[in-house]
Amino acid sequence: MKILLLGSGGREHALADALSRENTAVELIAGPGNPGIADLARLVSVKADDPQAVAALAEQEQVDLVLIGPEAPLAAGVVDYLQQRRIPAFGPTMGAATVETSKADTKALMMAAGIPTAHAETHRVASEAKAAVKARFGAPVVIKASGLAAGKGVIVCQTETEAFDAIDRILDDRVFGEAGAECLVESFMTGEELSLFAIADGYDVLPMIGAQDHKRLHDGDEGPNTGGMGAYTPVSFSTPALVDDVTERIFLPTLHALRKRGTPFSGLLYAGLMLTPDGPKVVEFNCRFGDPETQAILPMLTSSLLDPMLAVARGARIGNMAPFTWRGGASVTTVVASGGYPEAPQTGFPVHLPSFGDDVRVFHAGTKRDANGALLTSGGRVFAVTALADSFAAAQQASRDAASRIEFDGAIYRRDIGWREAARLG
Ligand code: GLY
Repeated sequence: MKILLLGSGGREHALADALSRENTAVELIAGPGNPGIADLARLVSVKADDPQAVAALAEQEQVDLVLIGPEAPLAAGVVDYLQQRRIPAFGPTMGAATVETSKADTKALMMAAGIPTAHAETHRVASEAKAAVKARFGAPVVIKASGLAAGKGVIVCQTETEAFDAIDRILDDRVFGEAGAECLVESFMTGEELSLFAIADGYDVLPMIGAQDHKRLHDGDEGPNTGGMGAYTPVSFSTPALVDDVTERIFLPTLHALRKRGTPFSGLLYAGLMLTPDGPKVVEFNCRFGDPETQAILPMLTSSLLDPMLAVARGARIGNMAPFTWRGGASVTTVVASGGYPEAPQTGFPVHLPSFGDDVRVFHAGTKRDANGALLTSGGRVFAVTALADSFAAAQQASRDAASRIEFDGAIYRRDIGWREAARLG
């Protein structure tokens, strides 16, 4: 079994780790990968969002599966092109990837299909969006750029003035470029967030265990939004009954609506949910594994990841496959980031990376090696440090301790990953 893994982040390192642990006979090639993935895979140079380049590499290497980590190659139509060339690929086509790449289309699809989500309007003209805020939404209100905006396109506004400013910046100043050609004005929802992933074959899903992300930079959920500073799993309110409810009222109707639209979704469907007083509602969908939730979730998996991914990539159905199984205890992931992240990360610093026991996994994200092989920082989020333990409290402590032992100039990390779960558990 030869697999080409596209991407270079902590999520892709966690995917490579899960596949290697599951089956040592798997031969992994990663493009472009990172120094952590290099311990598990042969790295190749490829432009991951160039469909022809990816297909040429997959054909040359005669791979059995192409596994796409980030959203950009999916949005660029890499899977469409691989399918034309009859190369099995795990991930949605460009049309189905619009669940993430067009918040406007996806909101319309959900509202038409009666899928639980916050009410929203889509606008292209700033004065009309502002009039909607004034007349029909009030504050607090959520303003979203419709397209891909590197996790920065969702602005929660506490006042009408903040909302007007967000609308101007998205629609008129185009701070997110063409991703801001349309903006959503969306009702504010209250509740706790939950990330729920499911492998989808267009019809059925195999859900994973729920996780909770921590998007703000600082402890206590203060500071600017980031790509995610940590995650943990399991989440005690994400019970089997809740996952069944999300499957019946959200995942399956979404797959049905996408089939009816002519863009069936196969790959990893990521539901970003809000547990509101009226039940779970969709905040957003993503069309790929989440980062850093994947780094917390996959080390807990005790059944095969490869089998359902390969089945889906080959066009088979997964409805009769056994559910995923998970080890007991808990997993907590702490992201160690560069000083200045997210606005202006300072990089290029040498890293001291101690060795840890088997219950701590250090996933590389923004790292590189210099000409002498020394490890340097090269991006905003540098490592995701996952600790597994028999209890949530022990995993939280071990993740925090391990993160504190990774040293480079300016390193920052949160010390409170999982604080909501800690409070719930008492
Ligand atoms: N954890 C947020 C994301 O992957 O988009």
